[in-house]
Amino acid sequence: MFSEKIVQNLEKSSWIRAMFEEGNRLAKIYGADKVYDFSLGNPFGEPPIEVQQSLKRHILSGELGLHKYMSNSGYPEVCEKIAKGLEEESGVSLKGENVIMTVGAAGGLNVVFKSLLNEGEEVIVFAPYFVEYGSYVDNCGGRLVVVPADTSTFQPNLEELKRFITPRTKAVIINSPNNPTGVVYSEEGLKSMAAILEAKEMEYGSTIYVLSDEPYSRIIYDGVKLPPVLGIFKNAIIVNSFSKSLGLAGERIGYIAASSNIEDVSILMKALAYCNRTLGFVNAPGLFQRVVADSLDASIDVEDYKVKRDFLYDNLTRLGFEIIKPQGAFYLFPKSLIPNEVEFARTATKYNLLLVPGSGFGCPGFFRMSYCVKFDMIKNSIPAFEKLVKEYR
Ligand SMILES: Cc1ncc(COP(=O)(O)O)c(C=O)c1O
Repeated sequence: MFSEKIVQNLEKSSWIRAMFEEGNRLAKIYGADKVYDFSLGNPFGEPPIEVQQSLKRHILSGELGLHKYMSNSGYPEVCEKIAKGLEEESGVSLKGENVIMTVGAAGGLNVVFKSLLNEGEEVIVFAPYFVEYGSYVDNCGGRLVVVPADTSTFQPNLEELKRFITPRTKAVIINSPNNPTGVVYSEEGLKSMAAILEAKEMEYGSTIYVLSDEPYSRIIYDGVKLPPVLGIFKNAIIVNSFSKSLGLAGERIGYIAASSNIEDVSILMKALAYCNRTLGFVNAPGLFQRVVADSLDASIDVEDYKVKRDFLYDNLTRLGFEIIKPQGAFYLFPKSLIPNEVEFARTATKYNLLLVPGSGFGCPGFFRMSYCVKFDMIKNSIPAFEKLVKEYR
């Protein structure tokens, strides 16, 4: 038969499939425009004009060799350009050799874990978190360790972190702006985290890498600035992609950038390139490496997401939902009206509302809504929320 572990994992993630099937079932009965599907994180809107122009220019250029293999790390000039951008943002010097182009952030995360982890080593993550981290760490023989959420802020729970670090801790994942909360981690909190990690490294004689997963780094509101991790953590490794910032999720293009302050960083870079190859990615898509390098200053319409955030936040809080107002990404993570949020999400489907239970993100009692959908759908969903709330009042 097939892999027992994978078949068991299929069972565990069956609620995602169930949600998808429920959406299809409701759409067939009521029509797609009467189903308020807040479950998917697929970016809304088309890539910016810079992307479209660059794509056309490269395809029509007549340049030979455009579709060949290149170095496993990617085109050196693309890596160089990305390094320069990060250097400008952080003020920390970074070279092209510190960057590797990857198959999205998902590919990049797998490459990093494969390069860092010995069998049984631990990777810490703060709840609530992107559920795929568990599979990626497991793919590479590691163990994901979940620090419980601070539900009053959804900032990393630093008091709890201290208790969870052991001599086997190899890395800590941070994800800001966060999926599923949309919260941006504060500079002050990240600096305190750095101090905790340094003290534990001294205590155990170990090295703890900080893996900053940043696919939402360009989707930030209210003039908030994302604290540059390269300037805060000595052992910072950034994983990023253009799936959300340029609306290129289907093209699978991202990168890894490792701080030049990491000891033996040149060996790490070789390991990352090796794992990019041996995990079967070989190299990141060539054409899109060129396109994103041309479009580093471009962005999808962040204002469009902000309008949707404000409308949903205002209306849901008016209806009595407790929500920490997100400053980034395109998710809201309200508190469920009853402790059992799986039951709550099930009741919501009576009103054609598709919401994702927080237990899927390691944080029961809350639910995630993704607002990368049409504004009309958001507007039309409010009466359905009003009916849902009446069930509990
Ligand atoms: C937090 C987080 N990390 C990584 C990914 C993977 O993104 P990519 O499409 O770049 O592989 C996602 C996708 O939704 C995400 O939300």
